[in-house]
Amino acid sequence: MLAGRRVVLAVSGGVAAFKAAFLARRIIEAGADVRTVMTDSACRFLGPQTMAALTGTPPVLDLFDQEDVSPHTSLARWADAIVVAPATAATISRLANGLSDGALAATVLAAKCPVVVAPAMHTEMWEHPATTRNMATLRSDGCVIAGPVSGALAGGDEGPGRMLEPEQILEILAGVFTPGPMEGWRVVVSAGGTREAIDPVRYVGNRSSGKMGNAVAVAAADAGAAVTLVTTVAAPSHSRIDVVPVESAQEMAEAVWAAATGSDVAVLAAAVADFRPADPVTGKLRRAQGPPEINLEPTPDILAGVAAMENRPYLVGFAAEVGSLEGAIDKAQRKGVDLLVANDIAKPGSGFGTETNEVTLITPDGATLPWEMLSKPAVAEKLVAEIVRRRGAAGSS
Ligand code: CTP
Repeated sequence: MLAGRRVVLAVSGGVAAFKAAFLARRIIEAGADVRTVMTDSACRFLGPQTMAALTGTPPVLDLFDQEDVSPHTSLARWADAIVVAPATAATISRLANGLSDGALAATVLAAKCPVVVAPAMHTEMWEHPATTRNMATLRSDGCVIAGPVSGALAGGDEGPGRMLEPEQILEILAGVFTPGPMEGWRVVVSAGGTREAIDPVRYVGNRSSGKMGNAVAVAAADAGAAVTLVTTVAAPSHSRIDVVPVESAQEMAEAVWAAATGSDVAVLAAAVADFRPADPVTGKLRRAQGPPEINLEPTPDILAGVAAMENRPYLVGFAAEVGSLEGAIDKAQRKGVDLLVANDIAKPGSGFGTETNEVTLITPDGATLPWEMLSKPAVAEKLVAEIVRRRGAAGSS
């Protein structure tokens, strides 16, 4: 449930802060990205360098003297969840009262995501009516409370106030995420137009912008899938998208076939060259040599390769047609896809590089389902929902 999630670990200053280092490691092992924010007192118990080394990112320590002009809102927007561990009595009081006088409390106040609070303090402080009041406020604000438990405390004390162990906090943290409809699925997406070398400078290419494929990758990742995006263009940054940059049809074929093995879904949105120069020249072609004669040879059919796989993924192809969609209906019937997404690039708002798309879904039996013109991200979201429904209905999920 934590794979690909972004978790902010907020550490305040108690002796249990050392356990935050273990917690950071456990959350990372569960597949999440972790960033940290630490109070001044937390830094007395646990070195910020330790957290930087464990998570790969230096902790946010204060609201000022940072490159980012608004570190708390940046961190809060980045987070899928925040876990405050340990949460001292002072930090709990700040959070309960919205007192955003430091980076930690300001980050929590700016966050819209779930917040898990793991209190740790001496029994007297935990049992004080002020703390009881503050905890009631946090509960009614929607925070998920993790612990504390009874046990050995700092200074030889014993009683309620001991922070939960990292494994227990991890379990509670995992529970705050509602699984997306593609949670646990592996999805491969191809995007962009391939470039087939003529010489080191020139290539045979096409007008694909990669926007539709990128949008599908993001929509699938947002739905919980672990996505491999094989692309010839700049890719979106997303914690659940693994980008494989390629250029030619050959490179794309190798990357897609490798990723498709064991995947649940393949969405091949790339515009792949059908032919490539048979003998690309190693040196630059010179004008003085006159017009070159370029012999072409077929490229691998990536889609056909996936369609022929044993236990192949649910396969979605794209077809950019000009004028009528008759050719796309024929493709849906003969290419071995489960679903074909066709569009008429001659229609305004539906071509290469546009922000919108007007697509028609075609199934192998030739049935067509036209959709209204939508933004490419909206088409992608609808397509992901459609894939979930159809793949589920086919009994393969
Ligand atoms: N495709 C592929 N490998 C190729 C060519 C195309 O995987 N070498 C995929 C595309 O990513 C797309 C689908 O096949 O999902 C349909 O692409 P398209 O170019 O429309 O198919 P073609 O059979 O090449 O059709 P046409 O006769 O129109 O060229």
